[in-house]
Amino acid sequence: MSETTTQSEIEIPRPTSGDVLERILEDHRLFEDLLRLARRTDTDRAAARQALAEVLVAHATSEEEEVYPTLRKDRAISEHEEEHGEEEHAEIIEALLAFLQVEGTDGQEYDDALEDLATVVNHHSNEEEQTILNPSREDVSAKEREQLGTAWLTRRNQLLEQGCASPAQVAALLDEAVDEGTLAPEEAREEADAIKAEAKQKAKEVEEAAKQD
Ligand SMILES: [Fe+2]
Ligand SMILES: [Fe+2]
Ligand SMILES: [Fe+2]
Repeated sequence: MSETTTQSEIEIPRPTSGDVLERILEDHRLFEDLLRLARRTDTDRAAARQALAEVLVAHATSEEEEVYPTLRKDRAISEHEEEHGEEEHAEIIEALLAFLQVEGTDGQEYDDALEDLATVVNHHSNEEEQTILNPSREDVSAKEREQLGTAWLTRRNQLLEQGCASPAQVAALLDEAVDEGTLAPEEAREEADAIKAEAKQKAKEVEEAAKQD
């Protein structure tokens, strides 16, 4: 049954060495390609969705385990930057779970969940490149970036090999993020979302009213 398959049919590149910063950037481009594939109507959207899930989870988990701690030790990034990165990973996990839980791949619900996921993924790639990768290019030696590349890719590829992004696995990661205090509990996040939706509606009304003048 394809519903329970956790391995995607789309081949995800698995390099094993290189400058960690360059390899991370390659994955960020891969996220964009897979988001685009998941958005098109002439592709196997289910395969694109599963491939995206696997590479997002493997990428972020191995960054937290293998990359961020070393960058902190080298003083390339601060504690705040590390924690903010982890918080954004948790937001990606939350949006990813909602996306994986959508039944079928051709309804409005699918489009909306994909748009939400794209928003958090793009925000994080941008911020990570500006505040984590850029300083590391200056503060971490080329030799250490190569060593980090091997460590990061080893863990990333191991997770891809195991299959790391079934809905149950992603749900467990979200629970872990809440337990560790990286993300607020569900009720608080739902309340915050409701406030944001209301504010967005009000802002829209203000703009519409201004257009009438
Ligand atoms: Fe990243
Ligand atoms: Fe990241
Ligand atoms: Fe941010």
